[in-house]
Amino acid sequence: MKLLVTGGAGFIGSHFIRHVLRKYPGHSVINLDKLTYAGNLENLREVEREPRYRFVHGDISDAAVVRDAMRGVDAVLNFAAESHVDRSILGADEFLKTDVLGTFTLLEAARELRIPRYVQISTDEVYGSVEHGAVRENAPLRPSNPYSASKAGGDLLVSAYWATHRLPVLITRSSNNFGPNQYPEKIIPLFITNALEDRRLPLYGDGRNVRDWLYVLDNCAAIDLVLHAGVPGEIYNIGGGTEVENIVLTRQILRLLGKPESLIQPVKDRPGHDRRYALDCHKIHSLGWKPAHELGAALAETVRWYKEHEAWWQPIKSGEFKAYYAKQYADRA
Ligand code: NAD
Ligand code: TYD
Repeated sequence: MKLLVTGGAGFIGSHFIRHVLRKYPGHSVINLDKLTYAGNLENLREVEREPRYRFVHGDISDAAVVRDAMRGVDAVLNFAAESHVDRSILGADEFLKTDVLGTFTLLEAARELRIPRYVQISTDEVYGSVEHGAVRENAPLRPSNPYSASKAGGDLLVSAYWATHRLPVLITRSSNNFGPNQYPEKIIPLFITNALEDRRLPLYGDGRNVRDWLYVLDNCAAIDLVLHAGVPGEIYNIGGGTEVENIVLTRQILRLLGKPESLIQPVKDRPGHDRRYALDCHKIHSLGWKPAHELGAALAETVRWYKEHEAWWQPIKSGEFKAYYAKQYADRA
């Protein structure tokens, strides 16, 4: 199978590429990535010399580049996105361009080239905050921030291409991922790396917001299953099944690092902060997937990775990230 993966230099996409090349000797991968601040070719060092892997530097909103990269592939997996809620609050332009217009550009090319399978990588955040129970795939979309709204826009276009053009699309909506290679703007790698440097951990609001954590390799296994065995036109929720309050998660990280809780710094809440996400995952469970990694062990493994890969995150934290962090947390202190 010949795959086009977009956004493959980012966190989840790079794990997915390595997973596919390792597991399927007959599969090849073209990785189309714009290399925004979040794209990092270091994530793909292990496969860069692999003949079944090819990197194309380009934007998913560029129709000519997309058509070129997509010609002759058996499936497209769209991981490319602006992915951080706090950045979407500072400015949403790029979110609309990539998450909505970029998705549209991919769908148009896939329709024109009659691509047999298109998988959109989406998020539980499109459902908005879930105060009680868990949401199924047919729940209404109620995004509360520009990031989740732009992802919801992409999802609606994908569904429309199924209804109107019968483009064989599938959508995965996963809960919060964590693991090695995650850009240190998201809570887990931010808190691990800050703690390693004995810096404060900015915990938003009362710290009691709930996220359902999913180890990145479990998400890759689920996406793999949806790619190979999912039913076209269907949406699949992918949840870790481990709901944790941010304060509990923060204490667990500090414990793993042997750092004091005095590093926790309560800061002003994120505007529009979703209280809780919770997915009903019956559909993906019946397809034959369950998370294989337990949160405690996977978190310990993740902490170990950041401890051992300072050379990966130090240049990031002292580069572009520095100005972003100052801006982000200046008005929250
Ligand atoms: P990331 O921010 O780490 O990586 C995004 C990648 O997309 C980067 O390599 C970047 O260079 C690339 N990219 C951005 N704009 C592009 C464009 N216009 N053209 C081509 N490439 C572009 O993101 P991630 O955490 O790996 O998330 C991957 C996907 O999974 C996203 O669609 C995100 O919405 C979704 N998702 C993420 C999570 C999570 O917890 N990280 C949870 C659920 C869903
Ligand atoms: P994040 O990792 O940004 O993922 P998302 O907003 O997509 O769920 O945030 C996860 C949770 O952690 C969310 O409730 C916001 C909170 N948070 C903090 O308390 N402090 C931080 O510095 C960050 C980045 C997040």
